[in-house]
Amino acid sequence: MSSRLKGRVAIVTGGGHGIGRAYARRLAEEGASVVIAEIDVKAATSAAEELEKEGFEALAVHTDVTKPDSVKEMARLAAEKFGRIDILVNNAAIFISVPMSRAPFDEIDPEEWDRMMAVNVKGAWLSSCAVAPYMRDQQYGKIINISSGTALKGADNRIHYVASKAAILGFTKTLANELGKEGVCVNCIAPGSTMSEENPDDAIRQRRASAASTRAIPRLQMPGDMLGAVVFFSSSDSDFITGQTLVVDGGSCMH
Ligand SMILES: NC(=O)c1ccc[n+]([C@@H]2O[C@H](COP(=O)([O-])OP(=O)(O)OC[C@H]3O[C@@H](n4cnc5c(N)ncnc54)[C@H](O)[C@@H]3O)[C@@H](O)[C@H]2O)c1
Repeated sequence: MSSRLKGRVAIVTGGGHGIGRAYARRLAEEGASVVIAEIDVKAATSAAEELEKEGFEALAVHTDVTKPDSVKEMARLAAEKFGRIDILVNNAAIFISVPMSRAPFDEIDPEEWDRMMAVNVKGAWLSSCAVAPYMRDQQYGKIINISSGTALKGADNRIHYVASKAAILGFTKTLANELGKEGVCVNCIAPGSTMSEENPDDAIRQRRASAASTRAIPRLQMPGDMLGAVVFFSSSDSDFITGQTLVVDGGSCMH
């Protein structure tokens, strides 16, 4: 493993489970001190302890990205413990660990629609607002938003989720425009259907396998497939790249 992120401090929202947990681990392996900001504090603590046992620097912070005070505290604790904030991965979402319903567009519960937007869209905005003062002071930062291939292709039976992930595309471009002069790059990763479940049942395996059949590279997508992209957007290798969305899906959606 290289140490492209030595001395950097990264916050991964939703870093206690699934792909976020894999992002946190890889950023730590690349030399960053990592803050795992999670609504599921048990998962955050276990992820941070696992990393610390292996000699990495990690901090678990109980965070609800929908709450302005909670994300401000997340940023304050990160800066207090590690001295700066260089990287924010806006990964927290209603999806698997905090599950979403799948239903036709006219059967989605309006309250679930609002909750989806609050976590997946407003949460990315509030978290970005919370770290921006630190990044401005440093005149350096990397914000990486997580969208989804479904935002580019559409997908049945989860219009609230797809709409929230499509919002992240415009959010990325606007934030990139506003923060570019402050030395902050804002980019986005759009993963394809990824086997991120901790205990996948047969139905899930089947769904993931059927996604594999739509790809130029026709295999299952795993959390590890996104890690090169997250390290690239977190490192100085991408210092002149901003406002971009990189689709990581084995060539299912070629845009
Ligand atoms: N797995 C896939 O097929 C896939 C495909 C495209 C995009 N994505 C995106 O990748 C990201 C990770 O997805 P995943 O598959 O690991 O699912 P996941 O549900 O396990 O990950 C989301 C994480 O966010 C946390 N979270 C939920 N609400 C929160 C809140 N209010 N505050 C803080 N944390 C909160 C959850 O506890 C969980 O750890 C998500 O943004 C998801 O939309 C996943």
